[in-house]
Amino acid sequence: MKIENVHLITFSPTHTSKRVGEAIVRGLGIENIKTVDLTFQELGEYEIPTTDMALISVPVYGGKVAPLALQRLEGIRSNGAPVVLVVVYGNRAYEKALQQLDAFVSERGFKVISGGTFIGEHSYSTSRNPIAVGRPDADDLQFAEEYGQKLLFKIQQATDLEHLYGVDVLRIQRPSQPIFPMLRFIWQLSQWRKQGVVMPRTPQVDANLCTHCGACVELCPTKAISMGEEGCVTEKEQCIKCCACVKMCPQKARSFDTPYAPLISGNFKKRKQNRIII
Ligand SMILES: Cc1cc2nc3c(=O)[nH]c(=O)nc-3n(C[C@H](O)[C@H](O)[C@H](O)COP(=O)(O)O)c2cc1C
Ligand code: SF4
Ligand code: SF4
Repeated sequence: MKIENVHLITFSPTHTSKRVGEAIVRGLGIENIKTVDLTFQELGEYEIPTTDMALISVPVYGGKVAPLALQRLEGIRSNGAPVVLVVVYGNRAYEKALQQLDAFVSERGFKVISGGTFIGEHSYSTSRNPIAVGRPDADDLQFAEEYGQKLLFKIQQATDLEHLYGVDVLRIQRPSQPIFPMLRFIWQLSQWRKQGVVMPRTPQVDANLCTHCGACVELCPTKAISMGEEGCVTEKEQCIKCCACVKMCPQKARSFDTPYAPLISGNFKKRKQNRIII
């Protein structure tokens, strides 16, 4: 069968989910691509016809799909169009994210024909606490393109939509994870809970480095930053801790010193593999 258009829908404050989605679409080699980036906007009412296909690529926050991504996807609907689901996570774990996304799109009328779990540099990664630095790297992107080619093959093999079979994303293979670092991570979290460790709610700004250029105001997905007389101010309630402002401040004036960063950096060193189910 032939797909008329592919709708690449992403939410991607630090661009890894978007880059993975774009690489898959390159591999698909279908000419008509409609890219919808929900990092700065709601999708609104968006109906995908059965002649088209959707590819949704979103990050994992706390083992689930980033809540704002789901909120922005709320208006998506179809009457049976195929969809490919991709969750991108920072080398720790994606837990229930893929399953959650599957339930979300199935309720809205889609047929899930494939799923992928990919690694992206962790939002909290810094030079002091590196986590999956530079991912998706060249190997990841090649894997993603090859995934796109396999998807194209699956689509071409199907005589019609009825024969383009769905998958059970629960059957996707989990990446291997050494047991001791994971137990250490869980033990440390329980200690923090007992001790009542307070986590930072927003990134900090170094007033000596900030030039008041306003770039962070523009690239914050939730408009949590405003520029006042004293420099930029971050609204706690609106900040989703995505670290886009930290990673993209040209002066490196912003930092997010969460205790999670050394903990994840120390315990999830082993490179995890991207996985797909077709
Ligand atoms: C608030 C928050 C929570 C996160 N939780 C997880 C997690 O549970 N597991 C994980 O492996 N990575 C986690 N990450 C890392 C992101 O999933 C990862 O960096 C992803 O590549 C970011 O996607 P983006 O570049 O499209 O914004 C989290 C990041 C943030 C900001
Ligand atoms: S992007 Fe950096 S330098 Fe520019 S206003 Fe924001 S914190 Fe200051
Ligand atoms: S202020 Fe918060 S929500 Fe806005 S870009 Fe920075 S970390 Fe993300």
